Amino acid sequence: MNIEEVKTENLVDQGSFWFPEPASEAAAQFSGLFNFIYIWSILIVLGVTVITAYLLFRYKRSKENQVAESQLTHNNVLEITWTILPFILVMVVFYWGYRDYLRLTIPDADSMEVHVTAKMWSWQFDYPELDVTTLGEFYVPVNRSVKLIMSSEDVLHSFYLPNFRVKRDVIPNRYTRLWFKPNRTGVFQVFCTEYCGQDHSKMLATLHVLSEEDYAEWLEKGTSTDDIPLLELGETLYNKAACASCHNIDGSPGGIGPSWKGLYGAERPLTSGSSVAADDDYLRESIRDPKAKVVAGYAPVMPAYNEKQLKSREVTAIIEYIKTLK
Ligand code: CUA
Repeated sequence: MNIEEVKTENLVDQGSFWFPEPASEAAAQFSGLFNFIYIWSILIVLGVTVITAYLLFRYKRSKENQVAESQLTHNNVLEITWTILPFILVMVVFYWGYRDYLRLTIPDADSMEVHVTAKMWSWQFDYPELDVTTLGEFYVPVNRSVKLIMSSEDVLHSFYLPNFRVKRDVIPNRYTRLWFKPNRTGVFQVFCTEYCGQDHSKMLATLHVLSEEDYAEWLEKGTSTDDIPLLELGETLYNKAACASCHNIDGSPGGIGPSWKGLYGAERPLTSGSSVAADDDYLRESIRDPKAKVVAGYAPVMPAYNEKQLKSREVTAIIEYIKTLK
């Protein structure tokens, strides 16, 4: 998926001059604290600079001005003032920051849980209560707390939702948690923000925050793709299931996996030395069990897609899509 495609997905504002639009109460609060610290930093830098510059000229020692230096050593009022005022300022920041930190760290007790699995270079979402798995996108109802339980299958990734001001590393062999409570509907961008290999920058996903009614409808319909025409479905899955991160469709060389252009029906030389025709059965096997027959010149790095991740009809849709890429 490239930036152009991202922009056309009706995403909620990402590119404002200052911050992406907040989509939760907490996000607005975090921005408030950031702005408070930022504005005070500017005021203090300016204040110190201006006073220093003024004193530099005011007490310049020149040929005409040879007055003895002041012997003043102490000024209680001044010293107490410049101790107390900064103390109050940093305590305000400490209290505010600690309060928001707790808010950021401790999920609401009634949060719904979504499991997030990161792998090079896609995001998978599992809803344990619903027995639903989605790739590259996930759906939550508005005004409901959501807790993400995240882990990685390979390397270090990082899950970032700019509109919610939440970000956390996703690590192999360990669970990390993240939570948010959307207060508006919309489609939001998820980024991977830890460099994780060649297609790190394409490791994107979308969060769909739905109204109560839309979410109920989504639950009922489930993640069924049965009413999407095969070809359209195949093309959609090419991006959603992250095929696009390794397989291009324009035939250019140098991809992590073979290009899909002209793939269907071609004779494929394998690492085993034999060769095989890329027919429907071979393509299906390569999706379900990619390591079974690896094409010569490529590493066996493709993740397998099981029945939960891609249903039979979805595999067929991808194969039909490949057939159109002549
Ligand atoms: Cu995953 Cu960068």
